[in-house]
Amino acid sequence: MNDPNGMVFLNGKYHLFFQHNPDSTVWGPMHWGHATSTDLVHWQELPIALYPDSLGTIFSGSAVIDENNTAGFGKNAMVAIYTNHSHELEKTNVDTFQTQSIAYSLDEGKTWTKYSGNPVIRNPGIHDFRDPKVYWFDADKKWIMTLATLDHITFYSSPDLKNWKEESKFGKNIGAHGGVWECPDLFPMDYNGKQIWTLIVNINPGGPNGGSATQYFTGNFDGHNFTPFDTATRWLDYGPDEYAGITWSNTGNRRIFLGWMSNWQYANVVPTEKWRSATTIARELSLENVNGSYLVTSVPVKELDKVVKKQTVLSNIDAKNYTLTDDLIKLNGAARLSFSSNKIKSFDIILSNEKGEKVVVGYSRTNKKYFIDRTKSGNISFEKGFAQKHTAPRFSTSDTMNITLVIDKASVELFADNGLTVMTEIFFPTTPFSIITIQSPEGMMIQELKFDELSGK
Ligand code: FRU
Repeated sequence: MNDPNGMVFLNGKYHLFFQHNPDSTVWGPMHWGHATSTDLVHWQELPIALYPDSLGTIFSGSAVIDENNTAGFGKNAMVAIYTNHSHELEKTNVDTFQTQSIAYSLDEGKTWTKYSGNPVIRNPGIHDFRDPKVYWFDADKKWIMTLATLDHITFYSSPDLKNWKEESKFGKNIGAHGGVWECPDLFPMDYNGKQIWTLIVNINPGGPNGGSATQYFTGNFDGHNFTPFDTATRWLDYGPDEYAGITWSNTGNRRIFLGWMSNWQYANVVPTEKWRSATTIARELSLENVNGSYLVTSVPVKELDKVVKKQTVLSNIDAKNYTLTDDLIKLNGAARLSFSSNKIKSFDIILSNEKGEKVVVGYSRTNKKYFIDRTKSGNISFEKGFAQKHTAPRFSTSDTMNITLVIDKASVELFADNGLTVMTEIFFPTTPFSIITIQSPEGMMIQELKFDELSGK
């Protein structure tokens, strides 16, 4: 798999479609795989939803619930808006091989009918022209499509999901441009009664720690133009392994985000055999005002509590050199570690095995940066850039700190300062990590630490 696609909530179920090549563990002819969940934690995989057709393979896109039957497919039809990628046209060296199409389902995403008028947006001659994300702009009773068009975003609007009109362009001279713009998303969030818009733009390569990554802007959207509050480049996740992340449609006031947990720099060669890639855990987005700027925070969805199999709560730990795992606390697969400290100190959290392989997650007070170091994480030889130490700025101005790590066999997700700084990393130890040590030569005191063993079973 790669990108999450068509994420939409309907009748108590979260739908997650995803870029999927059913015939191989490397990228190839794209289909939309399909999975559903009632709680964002337990997932059931269903048969493939969308297959390639005469217009091409099925690249990334979104899905909406057409409550008002604007398209005439039926009330509450699930409508997918996606990119058709014609590999045949691509071979002829023209730039028009990506177009936007729609399909609908009247049985909760199980079976789909492609619209006979596809494509609904033809390609004007832009080599990278893809990944439509559609949002119902209620004030004007119209759909807004946010489309990645090479090095900028093009916004379109439509009354019926079939006829689209260009509204505006955004981004040529703002944000990160180390690579192509892909998989955008545009949505409002409430901040103390004020509506603030967030525009997510995934980019590959050119991420803050190399390869692909998710940047975002905050600003205003008036149904035609997106106007950012400032020109800063910000990243939703500073780690190398969250990409193509976007949010669910139709979830009311909740903004739920999920990304693909890999990086195009090595996605096709990571040392797994029967599967390749996974998603991040679902994350809830909010806004925080830091020194006058609106920043997007992400934290694991509260539903993760459902898979806590055993919780240990410890208080007043002197973390100079503290081994957390012992006879009672075991790292054996998935776990969540959270703690808070009332002083800012440098620390290392070391996940390791008896072979000395390790991943270190920490904070350095000298440069005010969080980091994840996977240089000695086990199998690192499959790609020359994999074994690195990655960093992320600390944005919080608070003089207390809180950290949550969601750990799994081959990944760690760091949420620092209530999700102001986030990093996702994958790794491949040759035997599982079973030991957790916290080291703080500066003498961090942990007021409260929670260790949750997680199990989906
Ligand atoms: C991002 C991406 C999208 C595209 C899809 C193809 O990872 O390149 O832009 O639609 O993957 O699988």
